[in-house]
Amino acid sequence: MSKNPESVSLCPLNSAADPEPEPLCIFGTGDMGRSLGQRLLQSGYRVVFGSRTPHSCGPLPPGTQVMSHSAAAQSATLVFNCVHREHYGFLETLAPQLKGKVLVDVSNNPKRNLYPEANAEHLQRLVPGAHVVKAFNTLSAWTLQNGPADANRQVYLCGNSAEAKQAVAEIATKLGFTVLDRGSLSAAGELEDFPLQLFPEWRLPLRVAVGLTAFFYLYLLTRIVIYAYVQKGDDISFRLMVSLANKVFPIVSLIMLALCYLPGVIAAFLQLYRGTKYRRFPDWLDRWMLCRKQLGLLALAFAFLHVFYTLIIPQRYYVRNKLTANAISLIRENKTSPFESTMAWRNDSYLALGILGFGLFVLLGITSLPSVSNALSWREFNFVQSKLGYLTLFFCTFHTYLYGWNKFLRPSSYPWYTLPGYMLCLIVPTVVLVLKLLLLVPCVDRSLTRIRRGWDRTDKAEDSEKSLLT
Ligand SMILES: Cc1cc2nc3c(=O)[nH]c(=O)nc-3n(C[C@H](O)[C@H](O)[C@H](O)COP(=O)(O)OP(=O)(O)OC[C@H]3O[C@@H](n4cnc5c(N)ncnc54)[C@H](O)[C@@H]3O)c2cc1C
Ligand SMILES: NC(=O)c1ccc[n+]([C@@H]2O[C@H](COP(=O)([O-])OP(=O)(O)OC[C@H]3O[C@@H](n4cnc5c(N)ncnc54)[C@H](OP(=O)(O)O)[C@@H]3O)[C@@H](O)[C@H]2O)c1
Ligand code: HEM
Repeated sequence: MSKNPESVSLCPLNSAADPEPEPLCIFGTGDMGRSLGQRLLQSGYRVVFGSRTPHSCGPLPPGTQVMSHSAAAQSATLVFNCVHREHYGFLETLAPQLKGKVLVDVSNNPKRNLYPEANAEHLQRLVPGAHVVKAFNTLSAWTLQNGPADANRQVYLCGNSAEAKQAVAEIATKLGFTVLDRGSLSAAGELEDFPLQLFPEWRLPLRVAVGLTAFFYLYLLTRIVIYAYVQKGDDISFRLMVSLANKVFPIVSLIMLALCYLPGVIAAFLQLYRGTKYRRFPDWLDRWMLCRKQLGLLALAFAFLHVFYTLIIPQRYYVRNKLTANAISLIRENKTSPFESTMAWRNDSYLALGILGFGLFVLLGITSLPSVSNALSWREFNFVQSKLGYLTLFFCTFHTYLYGWNKFLRPSSYPWYTLPGYMLCLIVPTVVLVLKLLLLVPCVDRSLTRIRRGWDRTDKAEDSEKSLLT
């Protein structure tokens, strides 16, 4: 205990009693080595660098020492190897100094599958006497310099020695990071691939979004703008900017929202058909289920665009001009526009459903933020995402049905015998809602619930076969 009750020890806790704690060694005085050294120093550790050129290496954090690799390795029991894999050769000659020590491999590769084995496994083969731990490779030198507040807070690690991993985990925790143990050194390849990933789970949803947007834009362009030009000689190309966009965005949003819920119902029917939940879903369904969050968030982004585009409708020159022209022609003809109560109901209802649907849509988006979902129990999260999610789909689908109303009766709705966009976009959501309704039929729901609680039709069949035999 300190004699002065007001004095605070800045050393790491386990070294508080040691006036001169054992240093940590860093091989390599490049970006990663320097940043890690600075961070360790700020967290109260002593740092010794091992360099090829101890007398002429660049500026290092003040308070650190720099020496030859061999001398630095001798002075510490834990060594961070901040050198690129191509230069690991020098470590073979240091095998005696590194024997029994913890050797942390922080390296990454510029490409996947560049080498037959992971860098950390290669390092372990070069220095078999050391306990190699793969860690810190998913952080950038920048994150280390600025502290975890600025970026990713997680340090993934793996290694074959539990004590070595524990030692590295303690350091990472003291630097302010959260440690995630990924198991033995055979997981090193996976950790080395992490920094090379570029939003892999977004790829499929983005392709779906781009594909649907391109298809509907061209489809509507043809049936609205090109049709008007070819058939009537009207140039309404100005519609490309707002009118067409404000059709394509909600259409894509609604289809993508329905695509979030379609795999769930397909999965449920598959479980009912198979009579068990213990058989794996096909790969395509698995992949689809895994990207529902991204599908949903992209659908939300498109819904936002639709809402912003809708807000500007009264500001549009085309709309104001049309309204004024209408009013003038009514005045000229000494007519009034009769008030249709049904139309008012329909209009208010479709707008109200749109607003309600959008409100719930935003709620789904908010609960998918990690900080919010972490504060919810699984049941609460499932209630919002699944139950309120279906309600969102219901509101948005009926917003569109009411928007369409009786337009399907007008022959002018089918230029060149094509269906309006809003009709096409209703197909998937309607299918999802009807299938979901079928799943809610009490006898179907009961069977599904039993299957999900572990009941297995094949067990039952085997049991009855056994009882017949005995
Ligand atoms: C804006 C927005 C944000 C979203 N954010 C997220 C998000 O953060 N995370 C996310 O996962 N999704 C997210 N989604 C997608 C979607 O809301 C969820 O995946 C939602 O849970 C799907 O509900 P569901 O009822 O179809 O599927 P689920 O509740 O996952 O059920 C689907 C199927 O899984 C099987 N199943 C479910 N429970 C069990 C069980 N106990 N045992 C065996 N099988 C079972 C059943 O076959 C079921 O039919 C988001 C969507 C939107 C629009
Ligand atoms: N930079 C990042 O953001 C980052 C993030 C995660 C992981 N990493 C990993 O950290 C390691 C170092 O990256 P870096 O960005 O710091 O690279 P760097 O700036 O090029 O530094 C590498 C250091 O390795 C040493 N070195 C170079 N050639 C050598 C050789 N032939 N033999 C022995 N040592 C040699 C040098 O230090 P001396 O001159 O002192 O010997 C050099 O400064 C890499 O494996 C990288 O994948 C980097
Ligand atoms: C604040 C919420 C919303 C409002 C005020 C609103 C309003 C509107 C309006 C005014 C239109 C007609 C546009 C036009 O005449 O071109 C429309 C159409 C449409 N809306 Fe919404 N909407 C909302 C939310 C949503 C949401 C969340 C969805 C679905 C995800 C959606 C899907 C649609 C669809 C598919 C159309 C038909 C597009 C077409 O083919 O013309 N809306 N909405």
